[in-house]
Amino acid sequence: MIYAEITGWGRCLPPAVLANRDIETIMDTSDEWITTRSGIRERRISHVPNAALGEVAALRALAAAGVDARDVELIAYATTTPDEVVPNTGSIVQNRIGAVHAGVLDLNAACSGFLYAFNMVSDMIRMGSIRTALVIGSERLSSLMNWSRRESAILFGDGAGAVVLQASARESGFFAGKLGCVPGTRELLAIPDFGLDAIAQFRPLDISIDFSGPEIFKHAVKGMGDACEAVLAQSDTRLDQLDLIIPHQANVRIVEAVVRRLGADMDKVVLTLARYANTSTSTIPIALCEALEEGRVQPGMTILFTAFGAGLTWGASLLKWGDRTSPLGLSDAELPPCEQTGLELVQAAIARRAHQQPAS
Ligand code: UT7
Repeated sequence: MIYAEITGWGRCLPPAVLANRDIETIMDTSDEWITTRSGIRERRISHVPNAALGEVAALRALAAAGVDARDVELIAYATTTPDEVVPNTGSIVQNRIGAVHAGVLDLNAACSGFLYAFNMVSDMIRMGSIRTALVIGSERLSSLMNWSRRESAILFGDGAGAVVLQASARESGFFAGKLGCVPGTRELLAIPDFGLDAIAQFRPLDISIDFSGPEIFKHAVKGMGDACEAVLAQSDTRLDQLDLIIPHQANVRIVEAVVRRLGADMDKVVLTLARYANTSTSTIPIALCEALEEGRVQPGMTILFTAFGAGLTWGASLLKWGDRTSPLGLSDAELPPCEQTGLELVQAAIARRAHQQPAS
């Protein structure tokens, strides 16, 4: 039997912080509203493209696994904010890190993207078709944000996370998964002018997120709740055997509702929402890295991932952690320095949008 074990992990959060108080200065909202409705206090704003975040997270994950980039056979790059569509953004990272023997794909399942990629790549390793893979979630959502839309602009942030998956004879890694997409809900969370349809119809570039927060909220609780129950049942895992829950981080009230529905304990949940907000597909690998650094992951633990996103996609994965909880090595990969504050970066984006200038 071949298992697909997580042997390396890394994250990359851009340094510029945008606090709720900063957002108060650019739109009609308040720190109090954002904190009580979502649990978010601040988020990061990237001064570099998506692939730069993904590259640093990937190099850190490879160092933690002690794996040479030339031994990677597949890079699954989950993102909703690709720098380029053709060729894919994952291949920018492939070239920069020197993963010369890897196949590369971008995968878009919105905020569930990392989880989708994790389940699929784990299954490829378990089937024996590959032995070593990088699964990366990377987002630069701030570049899509319309800062005049307070219902969505307050929720998101930028960042990347990555894991190295390796074939192992030890009973570890992914052992149950469930993926889904709620029919008839595409319009609840959509960016209508971000694709060829808009270009073909010569619509002016006016990117905004169409967003029905309360409706998404209900589907998120149901989707993640159903997915979690499915993977627990599939694998005959009792709730008391679950050691850690790493959910997609969109809203602390959504997480609480899912955990309540499962009958689990919030003490088992990893939350990073207050500091990084919703980094879409990156929330799970970022939270996993933080849990490892904080010593919350112990050898042999049973861990549940669950996510939902535009589509509306949803899913869950159940995995058993291996023996090692500390990195084999550390990478010296860093982003270039950022001279601007989060607020200055956002103000520059608002000014560019007003003049319809392309971003640098
Ligand atoms: O990962 C996938 C993407 N994430 C999501 O899709 C998140 C899912 N939804 C949510 O997290 C929540 O629905 C929100 C945090 C977006 C909103 O919370 P809510 O409790 O569902 O609030 P609401 O949308 O029902 O709005 C309540 C009120 C409204 O005012 P009225 O109509 O009651 O007078 C809104 O206009 O809050 C107002 N409001 C705001 N006020 C201050 C909406 N956004 C803001 C804001 N600041 N930023």
